[in-house]
Amino acid sequence: MFDVNAIRADFPILSRQVNGQPLTYLDSGASAQKPQVVIDAITKAYSEEYANVHRGLHYLSNLATDKYENVRQVVAKFLNAGHEDEIVFTSGTTEGINLVAYSWAMENLQPGDEIVLSVLEHHANIVPWNFLRERQGVVLKWVDCAADGSLDPQAVIDAMGPKTKLVAVTQMSNVTGTRVDVKTICHAAREKGIATLIDGSQGAVHGPVDVQDIGCDFYPITGHKLYGPSGSGAIYIRAERQAEMRPFMGGGDMIDTVTKDAVTYAKPPLKFEAGTPGIVQTIGMGVALDYLMQIGMENVAAYEAKLAAYASEKLQNLNWLNVQGTAPGKGAIFSFTMEGAHPHDISTVLDKKGVAVRAGSHCAMPLMQHLGVTATCRASFAMYNTTEEVDRLVEALELCREFFG
Ligand code: ALA
Repeated sequence: MFDVNAIRADFPILSRQVNGQPLTYLDSGASAQKPQVVIDAITKAYSEEYANVHRGLHYLSNLATDKYENVRQVVAKFLNAGHEDEIVFTSGTTEGINLVAYSWAMENLQPGDEIVLSVLEHHANIVPWNFLRERQGVVLKWVDCAADGSLDPQAVIDAMGPKTKLVAVTQMSNVTGTRVDVKTICHAAREKGIATLIDGSQGAVHGPVDVQDIGCDFYPITGHKLYGPSGSGAIYIRAERQAEMRPFMGGGDMIDTVTKDAVTYAKPPLKFEAGTPGIVQTIGMGVALDYLMQIGMENVAAYEAKLAAYASEKLQNLNWLNVQGTAPGKGAIFSFTMEGAHPHDISTVLDKKGVAVRAGSHCAMPLMQHLGVTATCRASFAMYNTTEEVDRLVEALELCREFFG
């Protein structure tokens, strides 16, 4: 059974005060807090089990290598990948998407080829493709969302033409919480021989993921949003696509042999992992994913759906608040604006009440333009948030209204 109080007790930071008020942390979309098991695992890794990986033959190096490599099968299980070799470690989703841009897209796309994107995308799923537009004459085709923030999968499918080589869309908007029907998109793309990248930065945090069922080729995740350390992450790369990819960064670990005249490369996944990796970060991410799997992602999704419904209702009652995105089934991420108050000022007032939210363009400027705003305030909920915290947000917003109204 999902017990939010037991979960909250696992996160030491949640019991602290901010500005003399109990912390109401509603910025998990930017980065989630860490449970004690992850903090303990990091401490243990550094204080008892630390050495570089894949390099030494001594006891500690073997131990660190085992702990680090074990995370590959943890991530494979979390995403239901067919094989752990389809999991490449990264520093987060941004590195994962750049890896695909440099290692796969730059090798396989020609001038005039198209990449289909949605207007919901985070800059991490825009800018790497812009590099291809600038450097290789690749064309970016955009699909808009509806007024409620929803994305029609058929509109994405209709945008796939004979020149389309890749569709890159998010599973969940970091601004509106919109969930995208990525399975329908990926299955249609697969039939047309088009590759698919699904940005799992937010989606993987809020519900179960099965990359084989989705049918995508690339699925990056970021550890720090999944209650793990910052600087950790992974990307699922379907085996058939790995065969089409050149290495990403060059350096130690990703090679087979190096002579003065030639280099041969390691087999995937090591082929895509150059240099000393985020050893402890990755070990910590593995512990965070095991922790989530123990709770059960179905349970997380069910609890957060109730939280999202409660927050939707409470925020909609504030008729002076403009909530951006009300798509059915949306996740517990709420962006809003208020007449007469800049989002930065709203967030400063909320902070005085101990309520932490993000304000700005949320690394999603095309979506801001589409919504007709320059910035919003965003309350992003996690599995450890409660309905009482929704009430505290509403009280603090009412105070803002008095202050600026
Ligand atoms: N991508 C993170 C966010 O949405 C940083 O806030």
